[in-house]
Amino acid sequence: MSANQVQPKLIIHGGAGGHIKSEQGEAKVRQALHNIVTEVYELLSLGGSAVDAVVLGCQLLENQPTFNAGTGSVLQSDGQIRMSAALMDGAKQRFSGIINVSRVRHPIELAQYLQGEEDRVLSDYGASELLRELNVPIYDPLVEIRLQEWMQERDENFDKSMAAVVAEEALVHEPRQGTIGVVALDNLGKVCAGTSTGGKGLERIGRVSDSAMPAGNYADAAAGVSCTGIGEDIMDECLAAKIVIRVTDGMSLPEAMEKSMKESRSRKRDLGAIAIAADGTICWGKTSEVILAAYYDGEKIGDTINWNNQDLIGCS
Ligand code: GLY
Repeated sequence: MSANQVQPKLIIHGGAGGHIKSEQGEAKVRQALHNIVTEVYELLSLGGSAVDAVVLGCQLLENQPTFNAGTGSVLQSDGQIRMSAALMDGAKQRFSGIINVSRVRHPIELAQYLQGEEDRVLSDYGASELLRELNVPIYDPLVEIRLQEWMQERDENFDKSMAAVVAEEALVHEPRQGTIGVVALDNLGKVCAGTSTGGKGLERIGRVSDSAMPAGNYADAAAGVSCTGIGEDIMDECLAAKIVIRVTDGMSLPEAMEKSMKESRSRKRDLGAIAIAADGTICWGKTSEVILAAYYDGEKIGDTINWNNQDLIGCS
């Protein structure tokens, strides 16, 4: 590492919600998150950019059927999968996103493509047109357990308002909410944030997730944040943008995260966030019971899977 380079940092998440109650489910989530952190950090340590690291991390998380993004996305009320994703390049302070896209393996790649376009957020019909224009192969992200989950909900008259955070046999009736996200700081000190989701699950057709809004995914030169939890709660707090702007205006990341989480808890929001500041601080926060995150601070891998105490934030 040369004198003007900084130590890269990385944090990823696979959703927030209730505790994972089976040891098998917990081990599977931990293994998946640690493998992905290791692979993405390798790219950063070889000089890869924060943007490339975030896109790779989101692709790997979208590939994991366990998480609610890409393959393994939840079904909406009509039994269809519609996914949303956003990318924000902090150095350029540029947001791009795709809303309610279907039949694609990697929604994050569409968000990445839109970084270079004049029209940078596309939804439904426009997203399908873009897939056609780019000749992206048709892909069905449905996994059996999500279909079973939806059919079970249908048999119970859809009395739940959303689907499970992770797709595990033993977990279908346990934790709820899910999204994936990645925040990276590269060796040039640049920050990027990316988020991808299948939505809440069981929602009305046309409902728009926070994940492809600055409320759910935001970055500038000072910090980057990716959120998870109930999208409407995240929008009401404008959480990602609020944390980033607090850091930009001079608060430390731990102070900004803690203040934002205290406010969220006082309004009974159900959410979580991961973040990195340009000074290298990694933070996570939650009002949910648990946030499924893992990070690499340059020395060690850590995770928050058993971090289910009453603390609102943690940092490394
Ligand atoms: N945070 C994901 C969603 O509510 O759609």
